[in-house]
Amino acid sequence: MDGFIDLHCHVLPGLDDGAQTMEESLTMLRQAEKAGFSGLIMTPHHHIRRGMASPEQIKAALAAMQEHIDAEGLSLRLYPGNELYYAHNSVEKLSRGEVLTLAGSSYVLTEFSFGATFQEIRQGLLELSQAGYYPVLAHIERYECMTDAPQLCGELYDMGVYIQVNAGSFLGDAGRKPKKLVSMLLKEDLIHFVGTDAHDTKKRSPEIERCVKYIKKKAGEETVERLLRKNAQAVLENRVI
Ligand SMILES: [Fe+2]
Repeated sequence: MDGFIDLHCHVLPGLDDGAQTMEESLTMLRQAEKAGFSGLIMTPHHHIRRGMASPEQIKAALAAMQEHIDAEGLSLRLYPGNELYYAHNSVEKLSRGEVLTLAGSSYVLTEFSFGATFQEIRQGLLELSQAGYYPVLAHIERYECMTDAPQLCGELYDMGVYIQVNAGSFLGDAGRKPKKLVSMLLKEDLIHFVGTDAHDTKKRSPEIERCVKYIKKKAGEETVERLLRKNAQAVLENRVI
């Protein structure tokens, strides 16, 4: 059986606030393989302050990295993507090919300011889906409007928004409120994807073992499979989930 697929990580060196050097990236990829991943979608920020690398730069960095890990014998496949910080011109940028969807699919990993209102988030995601994209809301548990009113997550889910949570949030890495929210989302079966959102080799590494244990215990093996492999596989094949 194939391994896990991560659709949210900041591994490519020097493109955003994630890995800064080739060596750091390689260490993260070795960690990812050891943790059980077989595929990773590289999602550098497309964000005015955190990074705005062009698709060409991202693809070139990815090709160089794939070459390195192939030479080293790691069995990991890398795919291009972005974590898009939503702005009024996001659809325009996507349609002009200035921002990358996940692995060339119609899925778009999208983030907002942690303090954004529910209306702002809802409207942004709606705009993306009306333009024909499948919006994936990055780390839903990090937004204050969601932790303050968890029932709103269900509203987004019903709208057809895909829900991604960060692996570390299950264990409390993002604080008490996000932990409580992801536990509720898991119970209600409102999660589509678990991503690492890895930025480095230590504090925000591609570690997944503790999270897998947690999900297995609370929701069973089948859920682990679905949230860490099957649904992401559908993204790679551009199938609707
Ligand atoms: Fe991220």
